[in-house]
Amino acid sequence: LDGRQYTPDALYNLSPAVRRLLDRRILQEASNPLNLLKRRIVDYVHQTYRKPGNRSPLFTICESEPRVVSTFQNFDSLLTPEDHVSRRPSDTYYVNRENCLRAHTSAHQHTLMKQGLDAFLVIGDVYRRDEVDKTHYPCFHQIEGVRLYSKEDLLGKKPVAEDPVAELFSSSPDPSRLPEKQETHSLDAVKATEIQLKHFLEALCDELFGKETEKRWVDAYFPFTHPSYELEIFYNGQWLEVLGCGIMEQKLLESAGVTDKIGWAFGIGLERIAMVLYSIPDIRLFWSTDTGFLSQFAGKLPGEDVKYKQISSHPQVIFDISFFLPSSTEFNDMTSDVYDTIRTIGGELVEQVKLTDEFENKKKGKKSQTYRIVYRSHEKALTKEETQHYVDLFLGLSPLKYRISRMR
Ligand code: PHE
Repeated sequence: LDGRQYTPDALYNLSPAVRRLLDRRILQEASNPLNLLKRRIVDYVHQTYRKPGNRSPLFTICESEPRVVSTFQNFDSLLTPEDHVSRRPSDTYYVNRENCLRAHTSAHQHTLMKQGLDAFLVIGDVYRRDEVDKTHYPCFHQIEGVRLYSKEDLLGKKPVAEDPVAELFSSSPDPSRLPEKQETHSLDAVKATEIQLKHFLEALCDELFGKETEKRWVDAYFPFTHPSYELEIFYNGQWLEVLGCGIMEQKLLESAGVTDKIGWAFGIGLERIAMVLYSIPDIRLFWSTDTGFLSQFAGKLPGEDVKYKQISSHPQVIFDISFFLPSSTEFNDMTSDVYDTIRTIGGELVEQVKLTDEFENKKKGKKSQTYRIVYRSHEKALTKEETQHYVDLFLGLSPLKYRISRMR
């Protein structure tokens, strides 16, 4: 798996279906809406958060972490209790006793902090054994964010030689865990980190959904953050959870060898957000290979407003047509006219039209073009014969005639 060898044991529970999902890598497909959303978030974070001097992005993007992780990475490093439900083989895909498919991108926090990263996004597919319905699928996609602060980063004060971490950590003799902070943290440091965290996520949310969208913070629980929160947005008459986050448990930093910093982490589910942003009604659509779906996102820019229009469940009928263009230079670019004409003739039945090829015969001074037209009805399965009628109508109009009739 992902170029590494594992020896399965009795715990192995990857179905052939989930093996096929691992092979797809839909997040890397340029015309998948998840890819569009990923680029939008990465572009925004890169532009907004820069290293001192503004010369390069602050956050490192980690997109190719292995999807098989150790149970230490997925659970223990994140302080997940031994008897936690998420460890059950009915919830997690195990390769063997020591390794599983990551159930969340948090599984990489430990390794990446150990490598010395202070600010990073981990992006990728995660796997949970789950029932399949409109909003659940055994594979979905997350973006994890982690930011660690030294005393100077957070409070703008240079560490002093005697006690470089004073003010990040609590100095009281009996520091105890409170709802608002962990044992070791100072309240000031926690509050400052929380402000940074909430500001980062609220600004990201405004960027994605617009400032008008109502949002609210809700207290939450995760074994690896304290305090923990969820951010919800008001959408379609109800509150929808879009991410989980919190102040990282100091033990995580310590076990990764970080002793002089405090950090926040968040995890965002991409499908949820993409379903809202692009009006995608069913999570299974992200896996569609139907060009009626993918063509609605292909070639779009990350910032563009795209709303998905339901495709028909009836089959497509596809025609490739080629013709010579009129030789006059006046008609050099009539591609949009061809698109319009094909749509005028075919009406609702034209699902897609695209220029797929161009050819120029220099000697004869003639140019030809090929278009692919995809017809599909919302009401019935079209036959090739019925559809041919529309193609004939189009070809019967020479492009030249069409141009002239329009110019009149
Ligand atoms: N890993 C959590 C999840 O999948 C989300 C999360 C990430 C929460 C980081 C807090 C901090 O539900």
